[in-house]
Amino acid sequence: MTATIVLLPGDGIGPEVVREAHKVLAAVAARAGREFAFEDHSIGGAAIDQHGDPLPPATLDACRRADAILLGAVGGPKWDDPRARVRPEQGLLGLRKALGLYANLRPVRAHPALAAASPLKPALLLGVDVLFVRELTGGLYFGEPRLREVAGGRRRAVDTLVYSEDEIARVVRLAFRLARGRNQRVTSVDKANVLESSRLWREVATEIAAEFPDVALEHQLVDSCAMRLVTAPRSFDVIVTENMFGDILTDEAAVFTGSLGVIPSASLGEGSRGLYEPIHGSAPDLAGRGVANPIGAILSAALLLRHSLGLGGEADLVERAVAAAITTGARTADMGAAPGEALSTAAMGERIRREIAAA
Ligand code: IPM
Ligand code: MG
Repeated sequence: MTATIVLLPGDGIGPEVVREAHKVLAAVAARAGREFAFEDHSIGGAAIDQHGDPLPPATLDACRRADAILLGAVGGPKWDDPRARVRPEQGLLGLRKALGLYANLRPVRAHPALAAASPLKPALLLGVDVLFVRELTGGLYFGEPRLREVAGGRRRAVDTLVYSEDEIARVVRLAFRLARGRNQRVTSVDKANVLESSRLWREVATEIAAEFPDVALEHQLVDSCAMRLVTAPRSFDVIVTENMFGDILTDEAAVFTGSLGVIPSASLGEGSRGLYEPIHGSAPDLAGRGVANPIGAILSAALLLRHSLGLGGEADLVERAVAAAITTGARTADMGAAPGEALSTAAMGERIRREIAAA
């Protein structure tokens, strides 16, 4: 059976890194004797330029029909006017919401060979392996009312942080299920000492924990969690948290790996269809220069194979190929390459595909 994969290159370095991940998927399909049909569609700033819409109907339709979606990045200075009516980010947020992708998995592993590229002490990083499960379709990102107004001649703006118990329960339950296949520990992160929505979050998380007697639950406040992440990163297994806290904490945790460029993500909902994207964003300063790190996109392709196509063995193969390339010294500029030794985006992709072919 042919699997349909929609490619959404997007903006900035998105097209460059998606090109490499696409080639990896094609190589894996050939090896596994599987057929993948790829479709390219526009999103974000590129879609605003072409269609005046960051999520054109044709893109959304294609994504709804697809088995999986691989996205590069959205956004850039060209579309950054804070007063603009349409923004690239609306494309990504609209897609997450329209497809009901409520859980964002961000695995962060510290590769020993990259410890020197991290500002954290190498001894702290040994064995760090954290899986973030970020709630993705609720909270401040989507809450209503959301507005800007002038009241009494002064400007005022409102965002709303709202969660229902069902929105909390489904993402926390997924975190527990994933913890079962790991070290059986879940840290639920909130701000229950201040926020009503966090008090509900904590209550529901405690109720869900009762369904999983084999998994340990701890609660932690987001501010102290932010500190513990850089002082004792090894003390975490699975972290589950609401949308905005998850956005912030996952960028912080990227310092474990030495580079934001190597972290993948999977956004999942009820079915097997998922949206896969590196977490690095569009990096406009690097765009078009062929220097971006394709590893985040390639590891996202591995997650796509595992979670949407049921090809766990092939996903392991891609992850092992990336690890082998890193172990044998392959580095893009962001990974602390020695001067003059940085691989280009294409050369890193090629190097990883060679490891796959040799496996
Ligand atoms: C992320 C990004 C997005 C988010 C932006 C681009 C809307 O920062 O995926 O972490 O905030 O969710
Ligand atoms: Mg972010």
